[in-house]
Amino acid sequence: MTQEARRWTIEEVVRWAADDFRGRGIESPRLDAEVLLARALGTPRIQLILDARRPLSAEELAGFREMVKRRRAREPVAYILGDREFYGRPFRVDARVLVPRPDTETLVEVALERTRAVSLSMRALDLCTGSGCVAITLARERPTASVWATDVSEGALAVARDNALRLGAHRLALRQGDLFAAVPAGARFDVVVSNPPYIAAGEVVDLMPDVRDFEPRLALEGGADGLAVLRRIVEGAGAHLVSGGVLAVEVGAGQAPVVAELFARAGFVDVEVRRDYARIERVLSGAFGGSPRS
Ligand SMILES: C[S@@+](CC[C@H](N)C(=O)[O-])C[C@H]1O[C@@H](n2cnc3c(N)ncnc32)[C@H](O)[C@@H]1O
Repeated sequence: MTQEARRWTIEEVVRWAADDFRGRGIESPRLDAEVLLARALGTPRIQLILDARRPLSAEELAGFREMVKRRRAREPVAYILGDREFYGRPFRVDARVLVPRPDTETLVEVALERTRAVSLSMRALDLCTGSGCVAITLARERPTASVWATDVSEGALAVARDNALRLGAHRLALRQGDLFAAVPAGARFDVVVSNPPYIAAGEVVDLMPDVRDFEPRLALEGGADGLAVLRRIVEGAGAHLVSGGVLAVEVGAGQAPVVAELFARAGFVDVEVRRDYARIERVLSGAFGGSPRS
């Protein structure tokens, strides 16, 4: 008599994977296990609870094991799944782009709030667009606006292009180049937004392996003090804004005071700091008031 191979149930494999992830120092072991299994089974996460005792087929188990193997190596869950939700929309992501963070939704909120007066005719520029999450969200939230988005990385732009098509951001122009060099010299915008790389070069080694070893270095590192790209954005934005136009940028924890000073020196007024969901000072914004301070 042949003995049937043991079949693992949903609750057993979730426990196994979560324990394994926990033992490797992964931050949210149970959540990661559930999210990956739900995708492997093609069901919503809630179904895992309802079907906890259901045994997995050999194919289902094999698919899940493959995902677990990648997560064990600390590959971000978003790259394994191939997508991440941002502002309620699913963005495709892979190793060519930074995984969109919830903190960056604060940048979108500030940009939308500070451009209410021009909401129908808004012209926006998103520098360092990556997956396109900020630019595409602005384009979708303001369907009559025209949005430009730029990135120095061709790979990132390919991802952004795909997201723009799938998410129906029709009035969006994507351009490759170094910051403002990617837009025509005479172009003027109502708002310039950016989530640039802002981690100091020496601090990259201290990041979680999920970030340090998988996300593009170009998306993370902002020169010796982390402010190299931010500085160029703040100094260059005035030449691309209408009078009273808004600059809004995401900054790293602890960078807000020094970036606020950069804003003031570059001629921005009404400078505001907005905290993110974790109460960290995350977004600096200001209106271009004219000439820079000497
Ligand atoms: C922190 S990621 C932000 C991606 C996306 N905006 C987001 O919020 O998820 C920074 C992006 O800036 C791009 N980048 C880095 N240096 C740049 C430069 N000098 N000019 C234009 N883009 C640059 C990188 O390729 C990367 O896609």
